[in-house]
Amino acid sequence: MAMFKRFFQTLKFKAMARQLRKPGGTVGNKVGLMMNKANEFLYDCTINTMQLTCNDKLLEIGFGNGKFFDKLFAAAPGLHVTGLDFSHTMINAAKENNQLSINEGRLMIAQGSSDQMPFADNSFDKIFCINVIYFWDEPHLHLQEIGRVLKPGGRFFATIRTKESMELMPFTKYGFTKYNENEWNELVEQNQFSFEKAVQINEPEVEFEGKPFRVWSLCLVAEKK
Ligand SMILES: C[S@@+](CC[C@H](N)C(=O)[O-])C[C@H]1O[C@@H](n2cnc3c(N)ncnc32)[C@H](O)[C@@H]1O
Repeated sequence: MAMFKRFFQTLKFKAMARQLRKPGGTVGNKVGLMMNKANEFLYDCTINTMQLTCNDKLLEIGFGNGKFFDKLFAAAPGLHVTGLDFSHTMINAAKENNQLSINEGRLMIAQGSSDQMPFADNSFDKIFCINVIYFWDEPHLHLQEIGRVLKPGGRFFATIRTKESMELMPFTKYGFTKYNENEWNELVEQNQFSFEKAVQINEPEVEFEGKPFRVWSLCLVAEKK
């Protein structure tokens, strides 16, 4: 009996990990809403760290259902934002959630993967992603591509839950690469960035399967060399 329970639990965690990597279909839309609840605080802190200015050209990689684009415009009216995500389901949800910003020309949504982006060299002043780098199987390819589309001196902000926090969540055994500050520092330095700082984010508790979890997060900031 215990063996069956373990087996089904493993299946459930694997399915959850797959959905977090690339949300799809009706379940994917529910996962999108769940992420809004769990990750809004990370958006607020990352936006604060980025110190956006009205003239910034900004790219978000892996925006989920795009619920928080409005927070960017509230931080810096006049900002020009591009969003990139490889999930068809999330692209549709983000378009639905941001019709006005898209029609007014301040938001552009594109489908694609961060290791092969449909953007010209030196396009952006700042690029950020929240809860995305765990899914990069070959991170150097993504970092090189981010380096290509960032302007010289541009900054890349990667917000993550720390390795220790991720290890508390059983689904992260399946296909997640977890980083601590030093590991990320080393990786970006090998890929045309200078590591600048890690901003600690003290999150309120998040809920997983009805249980509260105390988790720690970092906004990792690197500058294109
Ligand atoms: C765990 S969700 C995080 C969503 C949102 N940023 C948040 O923190 O709530 C990961 C998102 O990144 C997207 N994603 C993952 N890897 C990607 C890649 N290589 N290129 C583009 N999008 C990616 C997924 O489709 C999904 O929307």
